[in-house]
Amino acid sequence: MKILLTGSTGQVGYELERSLQGLGEVIALDRGRMDLADLDQVRDVIRSVQPQLIVNPAAYTAVDKAESEPALAHRINAEAPGLMAQEAARLGAAMVHYSTDYVFDGTVAAPRVETDATGPINVYGRSKLAGEEAIAAAGIPHLILRTSWVYGLRGKNFLLTMMRLAQERDELRIVSDQHGAPTWSRTIADSTALMLAQARAGGDGWWLRHGGTYHLSSQGQTTWFEFTQAIMELAGIDCRVLPITTADYPLPAPRPQYSALSSAKLMAADCHLPHWKDALRLCLK
Ligand SMILES: NC(=O)c1ccc[n+]([C@@H]2O[C@H](COP(=O)([O-])OP(=O)(O)OC[C@H]3O[C@@H](n4cnc5c(N)ncnc54)[C@H](OP(=O)(O)O)[C@@H]3O)[C@@H](O)[C@H]2O)c1
Repeated sequence: MKILLTGSTGQVGYELERSLQGLGEVIALDRGRMDLADLDQVRDVIRSVQPQLIVNPAAYTAVDKAESEPALAHRINAEAPGLMAQEAARLGAAMVHYSTDYVFDGTVAAPRVETDATGPINVYGRSKLAGEEAIAAAGIPHLILRTSWVYGLRGKNFLLTMMRLAQERDELRIVSDQHGAPTWSRTIADSTALMLAQARAGGDGWWLRHGGTYHLSSQGQTTWFEFTQAIMELAGIDCRVLPITTADYPLPAPRPQYSALSSAKLMAADCHLPHWKDALRLCLK
């Protein structure tokens, strides 16, 4: 199977390049080889590679910057994935795409399931939701995997930022009234590969039975404050962590207050997901 992988320099894309190796020939493309802001290039590259599967972790992920660049965020997060799906339809290919907990408004204090009503409250969330809708509209075999609070040992993420700041400061003041589940980029990549191995074993009928949208985030839930405490504890860093409120730390893009996802549907598909603290421990190990 020929697999076109986008965003190979990102947290999830980097891990996917490794996890997908057992499934076929992985053609990993960075922004230099396929810029999602350039729709003509996206079309040309897909037509020249002719993949049987497109895996698209590339995205405009700068949540705050998106507030001042809505058109660019929409092109990269909605129009480009929609075009990929149309090209996949031409080729008879399948597509795996990633989305976010930020498609929800965060007003319900219970883990969200796939069928819950969406209602993004920032530009990034709206652009990601539009991407989901464009892929679903193409009518191709697909998986849309919504994840949350992604971290890993490379790229720009909360874990690495906290570990750096803890070396520079005596104390960290961290928001304690936003709830969610930190998810290791490797968990996302390995779960994707597991689902795709099932798809390969299940033949064409698998996509009809199991394709669609899944929540893919660590089990359990926490706050950014508690996550930071766990990072300090597990990394053995001595730095005081103090709770603050969202109002104490204003940012350009509003965040959903409660964005935990229920991954029960994915777990029922034989894809086990670790508790967020166990995954963090493994990542730091
Ligand atoms: N990060 C999170 O906390 C989070 C939470 C929920 C869902 N998600 C979703 O999970 C997926 C993976 O996220 P991630 O954390 O791995 O993101 P990331 O680390 O920020 O990586 C984003 C990737 O997209 C690439 N990219 C950005 N603009 C591009 C463009 N115009 N053309 C081609 N490539 C472009 C980046 O390339 P460069 O290296 O060249 O910039 C990078 O490889 C995304 O769909 C994201 O929306 C992420």
